Amino acid sequence: MPELATVLEEVKKEVRPSEEELRDALTFYEELKEHISESLRISSPYRIELEGSLAKGTALKGDLDLDVFVLIRDEDLSREVLIQNFIKPLELELSKHYLVRRRFASHPYLRVRKGSLEADVVPAYWAKDLSEIRTAVDRTPFHTRYVVNHLTESMKDEVRLLKKFFKGIGVYGAEIRTQGFSGYLTELLIIKYGSFTEALKAMKGWGEGTVVVVENCGEDLATLRQFFRDDVLIVPDPVDTRRNTAAAVSKKSLTLAILAASAFLKEPDKKFFSPPRRALSLEHLREELRTWGRELVIVLYKMKEPVPDVTWGELRRVCSRVLRSLEVSDYPVVDCGTWSDEENFAMIAFDVVNHEKIPPFRIMSGPKKVVGEHLVRFVEKHLRSYEVGPWVDFEGRLKALKPRSILNVEEYLRSNSHVLSCGSGEVVLITSNLAELLRYLEGRGVDKDAVLQWLTAVVAKRLPWL
Ligand code: CTP
Ligand code: MG
Repeated sequence: MPELATVLEEVKKEVRPSEEELRDALTFYEELKEHISESLRISSPYRIELEGSLAKGTALKGDLDLDVFVLIRDEDLSREVLIQNFIKPLELELSKHYLVRRRFASHPYLRVRKGSLEADVVPAYWAKDLSEIRTAVDRTPFHTRYVVNHLTESMKDEVRLLKKFFKGIGVYGAEIRTQGFSGYLTELLIIKYGSFTEALKAMKGWGEGTVVVVENCGEDLATLRQFFRDDVLIVPDPVDTRRNTAAAVSKKSLTLAILAASAFLKEPDKKFFSPPRRALSLEHLREELRTWGRELVIVLYKMKEPVPDVTWGELRRVCSRVLRSLEVSDYPVVDCGTWSDEENFAMIAFDVVNHEKIPPFRIMSGPKKVVGEHLVRFVEKHLRSYEVGPWVDFEGRLKALKPRSILNVEEYLRSNSHVLSCGSGEVVLITSNLAELLRYLEGRGVDKDAVLQWLTAVVAKRLPWL
């Protein structure tokens, strides 16, 4: 078994960006800064500032995306004003030099690409202190300053380890796709615990409702837990304690982090940082599904425009909607999974028991305890609607067989397309035939291997680092 220290040293070296990489990124920043100041026509004072991991010295090798903020001292930064006076002129100018895309999260910004480098150019209100903050983006410069002031050189390596670990186990990023740990949250955990290993030791003992206090804000744990009662993990932002830095973390991400921390501490291994992404062949996948009496029903959407955050949110809602109707009809479901290339297509896979394996009825049971009134109610309720029963079984329990309303998930979805409606895309395929799916996607330029990798993860289920 590899030693903990050896594993960590090796990974540290692999994730530290090279001098050259850093220089290229900073050169790109200087260029951008110049183009921005040349083209911006803003009468209010403004300044251009580098935020994010590059400014904090915590960026991962091969992943040096720039967060360039334009802080504007103007009271009126409404969406319309930002689009007219900021987004449009900047887009025009930057498009002369780079590949530029408009992006709209909760806030409009530009995504600029130069070779392998990417920068987000984000307009924000220039707040002089925290009381002046209006939107989440205005808080970013305060986060950058806080981290810069609290991380030592060696702690930056520890941050990179933890980021890479979170990436490896699929919980890095606060966006809706992942609902996991943001860069800033990762940094706060290192500031709190001092090192990657200490952070993992703490994480192993976390549970739903855990509160991690980085800086004492004078509130006790019970108050904080009550204040952030909808969140599964609570890490009050030391910069603004009314905000939970871990608000985006879902139950799924929390569970994965706890499990992975405990598995890694038991058996340190590099695979946690870059787990193997297997892709089984189509034949293998079919065989595996057949053996277990399962089938995948795939719903494929063609997206109208690439809007990742919105799309992921919608896919999630469609999943819950379909799962709920399957549950009501008592149709056995294993799980469901989502995929998107974030450009043209998105997919949901419903992993369900093969329709040939499920009986056409559901068994309904009467009251557990013999209470006259309840027994009579059960019989009255079911007498007319059920084809079999009601009867009293050999243990004295009232029973009835009710026909299942959904017998075939694929057919159900085809004839109930309203449950699949998703504002940002339209359904182009509903199928349980994986070969048909792959043919369709390959014919439209989608990377077959990426799809097979995803299908493999959905079908094989086992966490790749366990
Ligand atoms: N941010 C934002 N809007 C963007 C990009 C970034 O508001 N379009 C803000 C985030 O809220 C965050 C900071 O900029 O406070 C940096 O974001 P991000 O790039 O996600 O995190 P990093 O710390 O830079 O980590 P990474 O290494 O993953 O880039
Ligand atoms: Mg960044």
